[in-house]
Amino acid sequence: MKARWAIEFVGTGSYAPEQRVPNDHFTSYLDTSDEWIVQRTGIRERRIVAPDQSTLALSEAASHAALAEAGLTPEDIDLIIHATATPEHPLPSTACELQATLGCRWIPAFDIAAACSGYVYALINAAQFIQCGMARTVLLLGSESLTRITDMEDRGTAILFGDGAGAAIVRPSTDPERGILAARWGADGSRAKAVYVPAGGSAEPSSIRTVNERLHYMKMQGRAIYKFAVTMMHSLVAETLDDAGVKLDELALLIPHQSNLRIIESAAQRLGLGMDRVAVNIDRYGNTSAASIGLALDEARKEGRVKPGDLVMLVAFGAGLTWASALIRL
Ligand code: ACO
Repeated sequence: MKARWAIEFVGTGSYAPEQRVPNDHFTSYLDTSDEWIVQRTGIRERRIVAPDQSTLALSEAASHAALAEAGLTPEDIDLIIHATATPEHPLPSTACELQATLGCRWIPAFDIAAACSGYVYALINAAQFIQCGMARTVLLLGSESLTRITDMEDRGTAILFGDGAGAAIVRPSTDPERGILAARWGADGSRAKAVYVPAGGSAEPSSIRTVNERLHYMKMQGRAIYKFAVTMMHSLVAETLDDAGVKLDELALLIPHQSNLRIIESAAQRLGLGMDRVAVNIDRYGNTSAASIGLALDEARKEGRVKPGDLVMLVAFGAGLTWASALIRL
């Protein structure tokens, strides 16, 4: 839909764990190769949380970076929206744990479970709360320790996922031309089991049996999601541009969810968009689910690839199945 949500990114931050795991790591024990992984996914390495790290630590580091850039303190935040598929604990929300860790006031804080679409879902939510006056300074994050729910014995998923976090602080903009110009979001729950974790929820609580059967790890129908994503990514971008009456030529940068380089290249090709105007970091991080767009946006801002006034399109899809897009004038 066409929008006029005048918000401003006053700070962004990201964090990726120090440990880099190259493709060769998997060739040592799985029937796979560096060549297969690079050709089929574009991934060369990913980051993995240290044994004493988990999602909250990644979120904390990314939040501090975003606050520093914004010149704000944790007391200035009045809402936290935290997107993740790998919360610190099943209960309570990681957003609440982050509120305490950062030293915020007793502000509202909640998690969003929209998998890889989580960052854009969080941004759309943040814009609504700002629009209606319920919040002025929103900390939003996509943060994941996906390797903690990835079956490292399953070559179909082990090679794909990585850990990281992307944070942003958004505030109302005094310039009505800035902010979200159009956004779309949706979900198809009939395909909930295309990517899911069978055990550990109320349907199948964790037990010795579920652990023995590796049901606490993510199961994925890779090919089916691939086909869905290739069509969805291209059409979402085209429709969102149309909603806003913006031409592709005007777009400074497309920041797609980083799940597979072939999906990104196919969408860009169908749109007629050169890869020089597409953010790609999957080669260095793998698929970091809700974190990927936040990481890429932060990198693009820090590298000067985008600047205030530029038009940027975020587009994502993921488990649910969910999808979301947002056209932003920075
Ligand atoms: N190394 C070598 N061979 C492999 C590997 C591997 N790591 N993984 C699979 N293969 C094999 C398969 O077994 C299959 O072999 P077969 O032909 O003998 O049966 C062959 O490669 C082709 O398998 P496909 O699944 O058709 O391969 P594809 O080209 O589709 O690539 C991939 C697989 C990378 C998973 C791709 O389908 C993909 O990226 N899908 C989208 C995943 C995604 O976006 N998920 C997002 C949701 S994640 C979330 O929300 C948290």
